[in-house]
Amino acid sequence: VERVLGPNDLDGVRLVVSAGGTREPIDSVRVIANRSSGKQGYAVAAEALARGASVTIVSTVSLPTPPGAVVVPVETAAEMHAAMNAAADDHDVVVMAAAVADFRPASAATGKIKKRDGVPEIVLEPTPDILAGLGENKRAGQVLVGFAAETDDLIANATSKLEKKRLDLIVANDVGAPEVGFAHDTNAVTLLRPDAKPVEIDLAAKRDVARAVIDTIVDIRRTR
Ligand code: CTP
Ligand code: CA
Repeated sequence: VERVLGPNDLDGVRLVVSAGGTREPIDSVRVIANRSSGKQGYAVAAEALARGASVTIVSTVSLPTPPGAVVVPVETAAEMHAAMNAAADDHDVVVMAAAVADFRPASAATGKIKKRDGVPEIVLEPTPDILAGLGENKRAGQVLVGFAAETDDLIANATSKLEKKRLDLIVANDVGAPEVGFAHDTNAVTLLRPDAKPVEIDLAAKRDVARAVIDTIVDIRRTR
């Protein structure tokens, strides 16, 4: 009931959020993956829908689709890159909650690598930084939000990503702390904006973290 009667402060706003970890093929059966569950991205989508937004989820996971959302399924960083670049053209708010692989096999083997051929040496290459590209091409009025997964120097590292990627907001996530981040239903984050005081959200349900993120996005749009 609270949600139904809640503020429709994102009415008419189009929001796209990426969710989950990318999977980068080694051969036709193996991938390099990470521990992201996609839950925080889906919570952002559900909260934005409840506040009146039109929502697209660019997703590597098969969580239940929040009613009303459009899901674009992707697997690799390259697919997510293409989907997010396309979506950024007609979305007012762009949120990169996905855990994108930083490195991928330079070329995937065709078929399955056989163990009789010995231990393979996998040569890696960097993936494109999707969020940095979105920052370079940010349209006037668009709000760009990133996440930072850190185990050390949380605020310093996240602040440097906020600046380098030209973000309006970064959600700094101490993934080394217990009950926080990957695969958990709870999260503890610090919200960082250029020229604003950091806001700490103590251990809370991912939906509550999503509410704080959406509150901040609404505030950014209002104060422009
Ligand atoms: N990101 C991205 N494309 C990549 C890597 C990261 O869009 N190839 C995005 C993530 O979705 C996240 C933000 O950039 O919103 C920060 O990701 P993070 O992994 O914390 O930082 P990196 O810039 O990749 O640096 P590092 O992993 O070395 O800390
Ligand atoms: Ca990274």
